[in-house]
Amino acid sequence: MTGTTRSRTTRRLGAAPAPSELDPAERYSADELAAVQLERLRWTLRHAYDNVPLYRARFDEAGFRPEDCRGLGDLARLPFTTKHDLRDTYPFGMFAVPMSDVRRVHASSGTTGRPTVVGYTEHDIDVWADVVARSIRAAGGRPGQKVHVSYGYGLFTGGLGAHYGAERLGCTVIPASGGMTARQVQIIQDFRPEIIMVTPSYMLTLVDEFERQGIDPRTTSLRTGIFGAEPWTEQMRQEIEERLDIDAVDIYGLSEVMGPGVANECVETKDGLHVWEDHFYPEVIDPFTGEVLPDGEEGELVFTSLTKQALPIIRYRTRDLTRLLPGTARPMRRMSRITGRSDDMIILRGVNLYPTQIEELVLRTGGMSPHFQLVLARRERMDQLTVRVEARPDCPGPRREAAAAELARAIKDGVGVTAEIAVVDPDTLERSVGKLRRIVDTREP
Ligand code: DLL
Repeated sequence: MTGTTRSRTTRRLGAAPAPSELDPAERYSADELAAVQLERLRWTLRHAYDNVPLYRARFDEAGFRPEDCRGLGDLARLPFTTKHDLRDTYPFGMFAVPMSDVRRVHASSGTTGRPTVVGYTEHDIDVWADVVARSIRAAGGRPGQKVHVSYGYGLFTGGLGAHYGAERLGCTVIPASGGMTARQVQIIQDFRPEIIMVTPSYMLTLVDEFERQGIDPRTTSLRTGIFGAEPWTEQMRQEIEERLDIDAVDIYGLSEVMGPGVANECVETKDGLHVWEDHFYPEVIDPFTGEVLPDGEEGELVFTSLTKQALPIIRYRTRDLTRLLPGTARPMRRMSRITGRSDDMIILRGVNLYPTQIEELVLRTGGMSPHFQLVLARRERMDQLTVRVEARPDCPGPRREAAAAELARAIKDGVGVTAEIAVVDPDTLERSVGKLRRIVDTREP
């Protein structure tokens, strides 16, 4: 597709890898995969039971011994692990190997209280590099290409996770990290990477900066963007693909399970993220009852690690909402795009809503930019939602009113809540430099 084609179809600049380029596990039949998973699950349960007091106590309480695991279904007999468990054992209480075998730690900041700390042995770091390499290849990346990494480097898993994976694939890494936006643009112009790995919200910040510097973002060297670490929508994919003339592909992961590279979309299908099930076993549960749901039904995603040494994680409740779907481009199952985190759910007069629902509607409304915030306030004991959204530069005053009315109607019809719309001038809302917080909550706790 050329830079002048402005179709609304999904771009496909990247190609599917040849079968010979895939990891053997990416070609496993269902039976081969299940056999590997069971063997690894049994190892994981034994390893956790023998080395982590919390797991031993939980298994004992459930009357479960590691050798009782005869099939993958037996996993459902075990209790869940939550972020609280990691916080309660802060910092290293759930590590299953001596500290001298832990080569690296990462931590997720969390909005309140103690961070959750995660650890990796040399082997864990090796596996992580493999799954991220697999992810980049699925997104269309190939050895010899340059990868600009704008995920933050540091305790956050994004930067270093992407970094090691890109090196493993045989790419040249540009470890830009987050921030210093003007310089990022210059580096992209000068170093000419084909691939960028960044949060979708920071990509938008970079696009604005390209334009500010008088550069058409569609003319850069970039061909592939691998976006994750926060929820984004199909409408956002179209926005990013159009404005940059690239393939925009979804990458998922979380620190507690590994970091980026737990699941990734394939560029040839862009139909949800293949879970790298040879290392991470997914379940979807009813978040209220904890019951395992059949594939296809939406619920909370739960992961069990299958090969992790330093921090085996068993039935970890991610709080992310999705459903499991059959494999397409690869035999391994897919998860659909995350619709939201239960932590980000807004309850407005009894109606549950997620920021992604608003994102979808904002981007469908002519004249509205993808920059918006959800402001929650309490007025006369009633919760009030205001969507503060920037107009696009080519949307003048009078058209903004019509656009606001259109968006309010779409939210009322589509989500079932009344929202006030405040259309603001371009470039007035705070820009993301990493993970974006969409919700501004001004209510008293
Ligand atoms: O965000 C790891 C990561 C880095 C993933 C870079 C992808 C790219 P945490 O900071 O522990 O780890 O946050 C994990 O971020 O539970 C989801 O709620 C959210 N998240 C991650 N990827 C996606 C995605 C990293 N593709 C939490 N879509 C997860 C939606 C995502 N949400």
